[in-house]
Amino acid sequence: MIIKSVKLTNFRSHDFFELNCWKETAMISGENGSGKTSILEAIFEVLRGKSFRAVDKDIVQRGKDFYRVELVYVSGEKIVVTYDFSTGKKMFLVGDKKTARLPKKNRYPVVLFEPDDLNLVGASPSRKREYFDRSFSQLSETYSDSLSKYNKALRQRNELLKRENVSREDLFSWNVLLARFGVFLWKSRGELVEKINDKLTGVYRSIAENKDEIKILLKKDGEFDESMYLKELEKVFKKDKMIGHTSFGAHRDNYEFLFNGVEADGSASRGEVRSIVIALKFIEADEIFQKTRKIPVVLLDDVFSELDEMRQKALVKNFKKNQVIITSVGAVEDVG
Ligand SMILES: Nc1ncnc2c1ncn2[C@@H]1O[C@H](COP(=O)(O)OP(=O)(O)O)[C@@H](O)[C@H]1O
Ligand SMILES: [Mg+2]
Repeated sequence: MIIKSVKLTNFRSHDFFELNCWKETAMISGENGSGKTSILEAIFEVLRGKSFRAVDKDIVQRGKDFYRVELVYVSGEKIVVTYDFSTGKKMFLVGDKKTARLPKKNRYPVVLFEPDDLNLVGASPSRKREYFDRSFSQLSETYSDSLSKYNKALRQRNELLKRENVSREDLFSWNVLLARFGVFLWKSRGELVEKINDKLTGVYRSIAENKDEIKILLKKDGEFDESMYLKELEKVFKKDKMIGHTSFGAHRDNYEFLFNGVEADGSASRGEVRSIVIALKFIEADEIFQKTRKIPVVLLDDVFSELDEMRQKALVKNFKKNQVIITSVGAVEDVG
């Protein structure tokens, strides 16, 4: 589906803003702080049902009591989202149907490329986990559900661990859930990383025209089935009680990028590292298409102008079937 127009009302710094995408590529330029990322955020809201960077109450323009985004596809289909600050209620209007959440069938896939993604290879484990979790969640509903169930159980277990008189028995039901979803996450992450690895070197070489070998390594606390995982959680009880949080499991996973067999962070050049991230985005877009048969909308936030000509060309070529919405810093046109 192609977006034709987006209208924002009381959305962050925008009282009202309208973006018309006459062509499949739209360019938004403006100074820092002029509200460019907010426009991508509004588009993302309507396509995915929630923001990629904030909760709704922070999005409503300060001093206003609601925000509204209206998106119209070229097909004529229209989706409106409104959020009421005082009641905290959000409403989606799809055609003439009202719903509190964006129905799954009306969600449209997005590949979001943020400036910070360019630093992914050298990023902290938590940042890398977040990155892949978001990407995998969009690829698989089950992954997304399991991840939120895992995180919920983890929060509960950590909460209990902070109590003075917590016993092993108190944790048992949470341990069971952590083991079930933790093992599932390990398995899914392993499979998805394999899928990426199957393509990564080839796609990377098509961007950079060189012979490097790229691989992602999933690093986790061990190889465990559900019952071993459960036993391990029981084993670390004393330690966890002392430190006040859970010291074992899938929430500690890390991803390492290998550049010709050695850690890329430190051995690959800045350009090479960027090509790796770009390759990841291409693979993500392709995986989404294979899975959903929908061509994802690509949102490039301040990254295009950051890249050299070779990498810009690669982006244009690879995303030529996608609708691409680009922001860039510059005074060409004020969007605010
Ligand atoms: N809820 C809000 N109400 C009003 N202004 C906001 C709100 N949230 C953010 N802003 C303002 O929006 C601007 C940032 O918008 P952003 O889309 O990130 O800009 P850009 O991407 O062009 O740098 C900042 O000036 C910030 O103070
Ligand atoms: Mg921005």
